[in-house]
Amino acid sequence: MNVDVLLGLQWGDEGKGKIVDVLTPQYNIIARFQGGPNAGHTLEFDGIKHVLHTIPSGIFHPEKINVIGNGVVIDPVVFYEEILKLAERNVDVKKNLLISRKAHLILPTHRLLDAADEAAKGKSKIGSTLKGIGPVYTDKVARNGIRVGDVEKKDFRIIYNSLKQKHLELIKNLCFDFSDYKMDGDLFDVYEAKWFDAIEIIKTIPHIDSEIFLHNSLKENKSILAEGAQGSLLDIDFGTYPFVTSSNTVCAGVCTGLGVSPKDIGEVYGIFKAYCTRVGSGSFPTELFDKDGDILRKTGNEYGSTTGRPRRCGWLDIPALKYSIMLNGVSQLIMMKADVLSGFSKINICTKYKYKGDLIDYIPFEINPEELTPVFHEMEGWNISLNKITSYKLLPDELKKYINYIEDSVKTPITYISVGPDRIQTIKR
Ligand code: GDP
Ligand code: IMO
Ligand code: MG
Repeated sequence: MNVDVLLGLQWGDEGKGKIVDVLTPQYNIIARFQGGPNAGHTLEFDGIKHVLHTIPSGIFHPEKINVIGNGVVIDPVVFYEEILKLAERNVDVKKNLLISRKAHLILPTHRLLDAADEAAKGKSKIGSTLKGIGPVYTDKVARNGIRVGDVEKKDFRIIYNSLKQKHLELIKNLCFDFSDYKMDGDLFDVYEAKWFDAIEIIKTIPHIDSEIFLHNSLKENKSILAEGAQGSLLDIDFGTYPFVTSSNTVCAGVCTGLGVSPKDIGEVYGIFKAYCTRVGSGSFPTELFDKDGDILRKTGNEYGSTTGRPRRCGWLDIPALKYSIMLNGVSQLIMMKADVLSGFSKINICTKYKYKGDLIDYIPFEINPEELTPVFHEMEGWNISLNKITSYKLLPDELKKYINYIEDSVKTPITYISVGPDRIQTIKR
């Protein structure tokens, strides 16, 4: 058996949570490979809406195993809250959730450092979710990190305090006063106390060497779906640097974030919205600043699942999509939120960029909005609601033309089309 992969091809929030939940019945194991509580993955079914941050989106299927891989970073407080929210829906994660011993822990001071770094950057801030992602991955690479497996150690408090002191020095150097800084509504001391309570909860979830577990599962012919967080254009190496997250969100991240070999990667599902969105700072060639952008935001309910921030909206960007398909070896595309385009008489699709006088179809090293303009191809829109359509043949012809145009441009098949947030609003072609 192979490890199939589902990952975002844009700037995150493509709808990964929904589709992982839809595909879960086909797999034995769902495994998150990177990112942390910066992610917000929304699932909707049977009239409920649920947002996950760290826990894989297969968790609502009790017979499926969910694994938090070594590449993920865990904030115990957020994780505990996720567990409590799932318990309200009668999901007992102790039955089907496993955590890698090698996953790194986000300390309360990582969150302070994130805020201090952003404050120090001033106008050029990244627009981080302030969940401590940059600082925790920095510590991982600098070989200072604390991992899930460390919580079992007798001197865990000493290890914690030593890293905390290091962070406090850095925070002092950044001249960041955190005396009244709140993390999810709590001042530092309260958050830290909650953090240690949550560590006790982490101890109750089985810790595993997930790379061995996944390897053995493959040998036993179990099927695995790797769930990505963020999107390829936020990848630390290939995204719109420095306005990116701090992990490899691309397919290669599956190998390092779960310990699976490239030979074991099977299908790569690339998921994209029928238009584009982005939260936080950074270039966005097709961004709309007019009423069309407002319509996309309103109709698509484009507000962050983790931070509630309004998402920037724009037309679909083919050069960016092609780049992401290339980086990931995408074998199938899944197009989300087609329903949000209903009602536009004309729909634009960016086919190339005009860059320093030339026409190009790739993302240049740096995008200076004054030097780069998107070139659009205009297509006819449609005016019927898609939310209740259940088969491809009933979709409006204009949407079919839009789908065919994208497929022809990126040379990759679109195999699923999502026409609403609910699990059942998914059309397989
Ligand atoms: P993720 O981070 O990739 O899992 O995506 P998010 O959950 O952050 O954002 C996707 C949003 O779009 C969520 O509110 C979903 O409920 C919603 N959604 C997913 N698919 C569709 C769709 O086809 N149509 C509409 N209208 N909403 C969708
Ligand atoms: P999901 O998994 C959208 C963005 C932030 C910011 C940049 C860096 O739900 O698609 P970070 O907190 O990682 O240091 O922020 O990345 N970002 C996301 N945008 N969806 C996400 O996750 C994101 N995770 C981080 O807004 O611009
Ligand atoms: Mg999201």
